[in-house]
Amino acid sequence: MSKVPVIAVDGPGGSGKGTVCKRIADTLHYHILDSGAIYRVLAYAALQSGTDLADSASLEKLALSLDLSFVPADDGVLTVLSGKDISSQIRTEETGAAASKVAAVPAVRKALLERQRMFRAAPGLVADGRDMGTVVFPDAEVKIFLDASCEERARRRVRQLEARGKPADYEKILAEIAERDHRDRTRAVAPLKPADDALVIDSTGMSIDEEVEKVLSLAREKGLCS
Ligand code: DC
Repeated sequence: MSKVPVIAVDGPGGSGKGTVCKRIADTLHYHILDSGAIYRVLAYAALQSGTDLADSASLEKLALSLDLSFVPADDGVLTVLSGKDISSQIRTEETGAAASKVAAVPAVRKALLERQRMFRAAPGLVADGRDMGTVVFPDAEVKIFLDASCEERARRRVRQLEARGKPADYEKILAEIAERDHRDRTRAVAPLKPADDALVIDSTGMSIDEEVEKVLSLAREKGLCS
């Protein structure tokens, strides 16, 4: 049997990856892996248990023992940790910043590798992350690196928060994005960077529809869809 196809979509937060991946997965009826959510769950579990975010051995143990599942629901997918729905808790800025820290720990990345590869199932997988094309699925049929300027991503985040009726301080958000980007791009293990064979798409000024169409046209070229 030939291997299950993977569309790897990497890039910084706010590049539109999540929305694009969902649209591609819906169109092709593929499974989806939100790898960032796994790092966020680990960060949440670490914060809850008072684990030191620099304590590599404890974080590795926690990563290996996470009782985590993604449960399909009417309005998306629920993130469930030890039977508790923590979908909204993992989306806070605090958890996001902590996720970026635990994701920089090499033992954590190693501990979570197999868990991510297990999402590869027929008819195919759309994998959303930072190192999907470089480390987790180096043999992915389609590799995309979705980028956008820090300013554009901060503007998108502000719009997202405002739409939810939450306060949004552009300058503060821009500084947080720049800090997290720097950590993700400069860490020693699996830094955020395009795979050598990835198609780099700068989504600044592009609509989601245009981004989706670009990815789908590459998938067509590779024979994954018609
Ligand atoms: O995509 P996100 O914002 O949910 O990711 C949260 C953090 O997890 C992000 O700062 C970087 C890290 N991450 C990673 O290192 N590798 C991945 N494949 C996905 C996310």
